[in-house]
Amino acid sequence: MLKPKKILITGANGLLGQKTTELFRHETPHEVILTDLQEKAFEPRGFDYFTMDITKKDEVKEAVKRCNPEIIINTAAYTNVDGCETDREKSWRVNVDAVKNFIIASRINSSKIIHISTDYIFDGRLGNYSETSKPNPLSYYGKSKLASENALITSGIDFTIVRTMIIYGTGKNLRPNFAVWLVNMLTEKNRVTIVDDQFGMPTMVDDLGWGLVKIVDLGKSGIYHICGNEYCSRYEFAVKLAEIFGLNENLIMPIKTGDLNQAAARPMNSGFILLKAETDLGIKPLNITEGLNLLKVQLGL
Ligand SMILES: NC(=O)c1ccc[n+]([C@@H]2O[C@H](COP(=O)([O-])OP(=O)(O)OC[C@H]3O[C@@H](n4cnc5c(N)ncnc54)[C@H](OP(=O)(O)O)[C@@H]3O)[C@@H](O)[C@H]2O)c1
Repeated sequence: MLKPKKILITGANGLLGQKTTELFRHETPHEVILTDLQEKAFEPRGFDYFTMDITKKDEVKEAVKRCNPEIIINTAAYTNVDGCETDREKSWRVNVDAVKNFIIASRINSSKIIHISTDYIFDGRLGNYSETSKPNPLSYYGKSKLASENALITSGIDFTIVRTMIIYGTGKNLRPNFAVWLVNMLTEKNRVTIVDDQFGMPTMVDDLGWGLVKIVDLGKSGIYHICGNEYCSRYEFAVKLAEIFGLNENLIMPIKTGDLNQAAARPMNSGFILLKAETDLGIKPLNITEGLNLLKVQLGL
């Protein structure tokens, strides 16, 4: 019989934070306490939620002491990749200093930290990355996330780092992720231009959430790669989405990354080897067709 644990989830209003909350609350015996920067974005509003700026060291220390969690799942981050490039100071405060705040607080309470990282720590030249592949971030976002990983790895505390990529899914009052934005745009018959030279493995947020549940229940530490089970370009993903949602794929125009003039460079050829997660955690992430069909059901379409 699984012993229930007390878990503090940061970034609870976010895409992954909401799904993680839902799964832990409804599918596990664990007790969850939630926090984010703003008021709770989803129902029910309750006693188990508090606002906190994770960049404030004293607030984090006090909160961890008060909640006394056995595990902290840190889904909070500054996730705007181009924003990180232009506001490097904020990127470092939220993505690195805040993690150090949790490390300091966790030493006092002996809490374990489960932290979410990204494929943007890799340069996207070779792709097909394993947990032991050599990082080489191209963007400041990637650099900040790699620094957060290194802070944990050298901290001496118990940690799990979960790297993922291109998350999509549903939740309440979320900024639209790539897939949901595309559904909205095509439904309103807008033309969209989508890059056909960036490749990765899009991740249904439910798969990532289940991976976190398994990591907690099996007590796994170290680094794990968790993403969707199929490799494609963003353009191929968009065309598949149009097909599954019965939308007009002729509205989707291929474009090259270089034409977008984005502030931050992206890894062009990403993708993870999922063997460790599949064997250690017993998960089998969805392919694109399965993930998009689940999204369609969740959106009630
Ligand atoms: N989304 C992806 O495709 C993707 C890909 C690879 C890795 N990841 C990683 O996966 C994790 C979850 O991503 P996500 O897409 O779920 O992110 P998200 O939807 O942007 O959620 C992040 C949450 O963190 C909160 N936050 C930001 N600054 C904060 C602060 N100073 N104090 C407290 N909370 C703060 C945000 O609040 P505000 O919205 O109010 O700022 C937001 O609710 C992140 O670590 C991200 O780096 C994401």
